[in-house]
Amino acid sequence: MSGNTLGTLFRVTNFGESHGPAIGAVIDGCPPGLPLTEADIQVELDRRRPGTSRHVTQRREPDTVEILSGVFEGQTTGTPIGLLIRNTDARSRDYTNIADTFRPGHADYTYWKKYGIRDPRGGGRSSARLTAPTVAAGAVARKWLLQECGVRIRGYMSQLGPIPIPFDSWDHVSTNPFYAPNAQIVPQLEAFMDQLRHDGDSIGARIEVQAEGLPAGWGEPIYDRLDADIAHAMMGLNAVKGVSIGSGFDCIAMRGSEHGDELSPDGFLANHAGGVLGGISSGQPLTVSLAVKPTSSIRVERRSVNRANDPVMVQTIGRHDPCVAIRATPIAEALLAIVLMDHALRHRGQCAR
Ligand SMILES: Cc1cc2nc3c(=O)[nH]c(=O)nc-3n(C[C@H](O)[C@H](O)[C@H](O)COP(=O)(O)O)c2cc1C
Repeated sequence: MSGNTLGTLFRVTNFGESHGPAIGAVIDGCPPGLPLTEADIQVELDRRRPGTSRHVTQRREPDTVEILSGVFEGQTTGTPIGLLIRNTDARSRDYTNIADTFRPGHADYTYWKKYGIRDPRGGGRSSARLTAPTVAAGAVARKWLLQECGVRIRGYMSQLGPIPIPFDSWDHVSTNPFYAPNAQIVPQLEAFMDQLRHDGDSIGARIEVQAEGLPAGWGEPIYDRLDADIAHAMMGLNAVKGVSIGSGFDCIAMRGSEHGDELSPDGFLANHAGGVLGGISSGQPLTVSLAVKPTSSIRVERRSVNRANDPVMVQTIGRHDPCVAIRATPIAEALLAIVLMDHALRHRGQCAR
């Protein structure tokens, strides 16, 4: 199975399965001399961790990271950084009933069709558990970006199912389990999720991710455009069905006289472009929006087939996120960090004087 590496100069390779002994990432290309400890990484993993509220999966994984290589006396050495996270709460019996059937909306069907063999325990390689190594690698990129370039990355949930979440303040984001930038709406979100769990169903959501402080000039023309690489990385996140930059699909109904961001001697007067022009960063904040689909593993009975193609009804019992987007914000931030660090190094390689 290939396709497990992200990046060109800052390369992150992800390995493992949901219910194997461990998962992890190997980072190749991190410059030497970056102060790095497990605590720098753990703080980000703790933001993604399951079991932290009643609105997410109750799988209890400490997600403790171990740095296996690439760091000496608290600094990166420039050699591959090996990051390991042991799986400690794998209840494989939860999945015996779905080993032979395909959950509508999950990867069971396509993995079976492609490989003819699959590890159904916890979704195997298709499990969002594999986003933990992404977050771990992203923590390294975040630290480097902030220290070397003053780039800050953050995100929030802007819509939960039918409920838009008006932006109030960044200060609220870390005070609730939804990453909602609005404290007042949290009781409404909680009531909605409680009803949903009662119904045994799931829901989609919209996540916003932003990077501020990056200079103009990161990115490449044509295929390796900065926005193309961001979309590629974000679509690599489980359950993401849409990625847009800046005004995104709203540009359809806009005129050029509205959408094109005017310039003044003091800078741009708007940011419909979302910080990218011609695939290259403009120096404006980079704004990315994600559409995340509802969880496919639900208690509601759905029609499907088994491996023999007989019709069956599928009901998924077990520990699942009723809205996967609730834990997706730190993962999307990590992906943005990985892409930006890669492009920062690429820009430095070609254009630094
Ligand atoms: C943070 C996160 C948690 C997730 N948790 C679950 C889950 O508990 N149950 C589930 O069926 N899918 C979950 N998913 C989604 C599946 O991993 C994903 O739908 C599946 O791999 C199929 O891939 P696709 O939706 O990208 O087509 C989660 C996704 C994310 C980002």
